Amino acid sequence: MTAPPQPRPPEPQADPAAAALHRDPAAGPTEGPSRVPAGGPLGGLHAPTLAEDGVLRPTHVEVNLDTLASNLRAIQARVGPGVGVMPVLKANAYGHGLVPVARRMEAEGAVALSVAYLEEGLMLRRAGLRCPVLVLGGVVGEQIPLFIQNDLQITASSVSKLNAVEDCARALGRRAQVHLKIDTGMERVGVHWYSAGPLLERSVQCQNIDVIGIYSHLANSDSADPTPTETQRARFLEALRFYEQRSLPTPLRHLANSGAILQHPDCALDLVRPGILLYGVRPDPSVPLTVPVRPALRWSSRVVYFKVVPAGAPVSYGSTWAPAQDTRVVTVPVGYGDGYFRSMSGNAQVLLGGARRPVVGRICMDQLMVDIDQSSAYNGDEVVLLGEDEAGNHITAEDLADWAGTIAYEVLTNINTRVPRVYSGEAP
Ligand SMILES: Cc1ncc(COP(=O)(O)O)c(C=O)c1O
Repeated sequence: MTAPPQPRPPEPQADPAAAALHRDPAAGPTEGPSRVPAGGPLGGLHAPTLAEDGVLRPTHVEVNLDTLASNLRAIQARVGPGVGVMPVLKANAYGHGLVPVARRMEAEGAVALSVAYLEEGLMLRRAGLRCPVLVLGGVVGEQIPLFIQNDLQITASSVSKLNAVEDCARALGRRAQVHLKIDTGMERVGVHWYSAGPLLERSVQCQNIDVIGIYSHLANSDSADPTPTETQRARFLEALRFYEQRSLPTPLRHLANSGAILQHPDCALDLVRPGILLYGVRPDPSVPLTVPVRPALRWSSRVVYFKVVPAGAPVSYGSTWAPAQDTRVVTVPVGYGDGYFRSMSGNAQVLLGGARRPVVGRICMDQLMVDIDQSSAYNGDEVVLLGEDEAGNHITAEDLADWAGTIAYEVLTNINTRVPRVYSGEAP
């Protein structure tokens, strides 16, 4: 029979793109800035947590803002000084916390920021960020006034949208800022490259709209086959001939996401839109890491319970796993309700006591169990779910993606906002 572990005392606890993207702050948001503390536990995003009372949940995410800043600089160095870098901060900055990450990116001189939804843009404005913000997603009519009043750049992908923006801007007596979206092979949002003429024609006639940029999105830039990306790039350049043919100035051209920054330098054009690469992760494990970025997020918890499970006694819901012999099992307060995928049950591992240990039985909503075999663990011991332990062992977002049958993007964006975020590094 395994002996219980000994109790232990508690542990102490200036480039061209910038000029084109920038707008006079005097025309800024209608609401005054309301600053949220940069180190706020949830990045200013979410509601009550014990962290606000100085008591941190054992489960939390640490984000190193200095690492993100260094990743931004590495991306800038890769694309060169003439190309702007516009970090993609959608989905809570890929789980890293929208407002603290945005503040640091702004302080580091990112020419603009981008998000997916109007609401994300509004969060940035309400947190006091004044830099250019492009909303990448599609827009419905009622949202347009909020875009204009809050100085958020709109993605326009049809003549009717453009007309609605023009009418709204005129009615408000303000100028709207727009990026035109061309579909070159994604079939998501955007006018097809072969029928972009009327949209571009209309955009140059609008009296109340500044066309800041024109862009497209790559569907296969993380693929080993360069052909689809080369085709999309060629289609995009074909649509852009509109400006050259009329001797009109071309708005800022942007096309490159992380895969293109890594694999297709000729897609950089005027501005690049790094998402996952900013967070130190590759879009796909097969893509060569041609930019020296590092992960900035560490997700950990602590042991809250220890027991010896007798041979044959099943662990967790559905009784899917039982040890062949008596074994030591610890319980960790994290589960699928925090974004630790239930689908990883039977595959997942954590770092505990300097080694990888298997998660056993089904992952519950708020708890999971780890088999530590005959080793020791104590209440309060750290359990690393994602990131590096003290011994230098790693679990990557790609590992979790593999266990869950998904991609690293989903692993990061799925970490629930109930998991407190704590920040290290300089927070402006
Ligand atoms: C329009 C657009 N640009 C850029 C990105 C960033 O992509 P990635 O995270 O692959 O760099 C995204 C994210 O999907 C996007 O939708």
